[in-house]
This record gives sequence, C-alpha cells and structure tokens, in this order.
Amino acid sequence: MPRNDNRYSGLMIAIHWTTAVLVLVAYLVSESSEHFGQHPPVLHFACGLAVLALVAVRLLARASGGAPRPLEGGPSWLAMLAKLGHLTLYLLLIAVPLTGWYALSRLGRPIDLWGVSIPPIAAAVKGDIGEIGDVHQVGGNLLLILAGLHAAMGLWHQFVRRDHVLERMRPF
Ligand code: HEM
Ligand code: HEM
Repeated sequence: MPRNDNRYSGLMIAIHWTTAVLVLVAYLVSESSEHFGQHPPVLHFACGLAVLALVAVRLLARASGGAPRPLEGGPSWLAMLAKLGHLTLYLLLIAVPLTGWYALSRLGRPIDLWGVSIPPIAAAVKGDIGEIGDVHQVGGNLLLILAGLHAAMGLWHQFVRRDHVLERMRPF
C-alpha cells in the first residue's frame, strides 16, 4: 500500500476510532469476578476480544504503509514522547485483553458470546487464580489513563499548536 504523507489510511482510521469506543465500553461495563455470579459481563469480554482482534489487523495495516510519516518541524522530545506513548498504547491494547482472557480461563468460566464459544487459553484452577486478575485491572486502568492523556494531547495539537495533527486521524 503506498504511503500517504499526511493522513492515516482509511482502515487505520476506522480501527482507531472503533477501538476507542470498544475500550471505553469494555471499561464502563467491567466488573470484578466477585460480582460475576450467574451473569458475567459478556459485553465486556466481547468488546475486549474485539480490541485484541482489531489490534492485529491494525499492526498489519501499519506495517504495510497505513501510517503517515511522523510529523516534522516540532521539538524532537515531543516526537519521542508521541512515539513512546503510541508504543505503550499498543502494548496495553494487546496485554489488557490477553490478561483478561487468561484470568477468565483460570476462573474456569466458559466464554460464550451469544452462541459463539471462545476457547480458554489456560487451565482452570480451583479457588484463587492468583495475581492475574489484579494485573488485568491495573492494566485496564492504565490504558484508560494513557488514552485520556493521549486524547488531551490530540486536542492540544488541534487548538493550541494548531498543527492539524488531528486531521491525520479524522474520519472524513
Ligand atoms: C480493552 C479491553 C479491556 C479493558 C479496558 C478491561 C478492563 C477491566 C477492568 C478495569 C476490570 C476491573 C473491574 C473491577 O474490578 O471493577 C476488569 C475485570 C475483568 N476483566 Fe477486563 N478488560 C478488558 C478486556 C477483557 C477481556 C478480553 C476479558 C476476557 C475475555 C476480560 C476479563 C475480565 C475478567 C475475568 C475480569 C475480573 C478479574 C478479577 O476480578 O479477577 N477483560 N477488566
Ligand atoms: C482508547 C482510546 C484511544 C486509543 C487506544 C488510541 C490509540 C492510538 C494509537 C496507538 C495511535 C498511534 C497510531 C499509529 O501511528 O500507529 C493513535 C494515534 C492518534 N490518535 Fe488515538 N487513541 C485513542 C483515542 C483518541 C482520541 C479520543 C483522540 C482525539 C482527541 C485521538 C487522536 C489521535 C490522533 C490525532 C492520532 C495521530 C497522531 C499522529 O498523527 O502522530 N485518539 N491513537
């Protein structure tokens, strides 16, 4: 795919905004396993697993030229910070759903998404599942905090620096 210097590809933009909505919904409907009872939050699992599937497509799209060249003209520390922030966001977009899937598998809960059954990725244990649930919860909170800072940076670019970074990711 040829590289566009000014904008992300349509696929990258669609996945970016879909992921943002899915992460927010997954977060809003999340629950501690102590409260699962007979009705675990299926929407939480479905949104989280969709995030994981989309990040794989997104990284492939990125590797085949879906991202524009980094912005030029700004201070180098800002470019480094943006790169580090995006890398951390990608890592969390992979690690958070994976640790959730792992925790759910350890809990021995079948994942049935409205008739579609998702296989476990770890053996079920009786009793305590260890730290993995906490790791997942902390990761989910970090993801939300970092995405919030990232969104604030996007708005700062748009309204303070007025360098049109937001337009690189604008849907239309
Ligand atoms: C971007 C995706 C996700 C985010 C932001 C996220 C966030 C969270 C948060 C914040 C909690 C703690 C809720 C509380 O204690 O009040 C939680 C719990 C949980 N999530 Fe996720 N999650 C995501 C994806 C997933 C996926 C894909 C699965 C499984 C397929 C999953 C399974 C679980 C489980 C089992 C718990 C309970 C952990 C425990 O209490 O030990 N999550 N999630
Ligand atoms: C959960 C929410 C979000 C996540 C996980 C997320 C994640 C990401 C990631 C990983 C990138 C890097 C893309 C790449 O180069 O491969 C990116 C770029 C971008 N995001 Fe977000 N994002 C979120 C929400 C938002 C919001 C709410 C805004 C707007 C205020 C926003 C504005 C942007 C912009 C403008 C870029 C392009 C930056 C550039 O051209 O260098 N994002 N986002």
